Amino acid sequence: MAATTFSLQSIVRPNILALKPYRCARDDFSSGVLLDANENAYGPALNPTSDAAVASAGLDINRYPDPHQTDLKNLLAKFRNIPGPEHFFLGVGSDEVIDMIFRVFCVPGKDAVLITPPTYGMYSVSAQINDVEVKKATLTLDGNFQLNVDEIEKQINANPNIKVIFLCSPGNPTGSALSHESIRRVLTLPNYKGIVAVDEAYVDFIEDGKEGSTATWVTQYPNLIVMQTMSKSFGLAGVRLGVAITTPEIASYMNATKAPYNIASTTSHVAQEALQPKGLDILHKHIAVMIEERGRLLEAFKSIAGLGKVLGTNDSNFVLVEVLDKDGKPSNERAFGVYTDMAKRQGLVVRFRGTEIGCEGCLRITVGTPEENETVIRLLTEQLGS
Ligand SMILES: Cc1ncc(COP(=O)(O)O)c(C=O)c1O
Repeated sequence: MAATTFSLQSIVRPNILALKPYRCARDDFSSGVLLDANENAYGPALNPTSDAAVASAGLDINRYPDPHQTDLKNLLAKFRNIPGPEHFFLGVGSDEVIDMIFRVFCVPGKDAVLITPPTYGMYSVSAQINDVEVKKATLTLDGNFQLNVDEIEKQINANPNIKVIFLCSPGNPTGSALSHESIRRVLTLPNYKGIVAVDEAYVDFIEDGKEGSTATWVTQYPNLIVMQTMSKSFGLAGVRLGVAITTPEIASYMNATKAPYNIASTTSHVAQEALQPKGLDILHKHIAVMIEERGRLLEAFKSIAGLGKVLGTNDSNFVLVEVLDKDGKPSNERAFGVYTDMAKRQGLVVRFRGTEIGCEGCLRITVGTPEENETVIRLLTEQLGS
């Protein structure tokens, strides 16, 4: 194990260390006549021929779901090449995983986290909700959006109350995967005793041949939590399944802290189906098409006069592109104008990201279907000239 100075017990919140987790009879007995949990033995209040009843047939949705979700974790472990289910915490989207990290490690009003802007907004929102201070070490603003490890180290040395460093790879809104070498440096910073949380929501969109997921590193680093989600590559944003892959010790604290039945039976059922060979086949086909379509958008953007540089290294299912003013400079005013005009008049909604550091004049555009991408190219050409 690396990071030899790391002691989990010294960074978990004292109230979580002392927590006696909620236990139910179902932890010990899960079959027989089940009159232990005040469920409704008569069944769901659903028209039996309705879509909802048909879709949930066989799932016993009048019963609470499995609090441990071991079958689902086993499938995830196999898919991500992780030794076993004990390495997992599952949340209601990775947004719950992010919140759980705050709740397990950060004492409100006392501790801090470090983020690397421009980055995903929920780290700061969750910090505010949990009354935790946010420190920042900006990514390199050379167009590649990589970690500035020296700046991270400076912040760590100046703020010993930093308990978690949130890294996003590939980043949102940057689209840049962080170099593995830089992530390893952060994991082993000599004076850092806290957690490194690597958000890999977009990891499946990194092209083969480039550095990919860090999830398997959880057997090497005692301070690593890797966050993934089924909302992006799996196309299951509506089922809300977020995944934390970490050490069994960290996972056990996160699992002890969660609400007992946080993962719905329907969510688990759909996610398990997606992890079967047929589902994985579709996943890989979709990823390949999205990567191809991303390339097509990037190519088309080159001949739209009012678009400037594409920022980042395009490792996600979106692109981040500059809108230029008449003098050829990135312009928030023009980008915001194009954004609102396309949304209001033409029904195409993209994301204005110009107020994020290093993203002056930028729109973030999700890769859609080939037809949707045609619409993007046509409307941007109309707006910004060819
Ligand atoms: C970087 C990043 N992390 C996490 C999330 C949240 O994902 P989920 O749908 O699993 O809550 C998003 C959603 O856009 C994201 O961009």
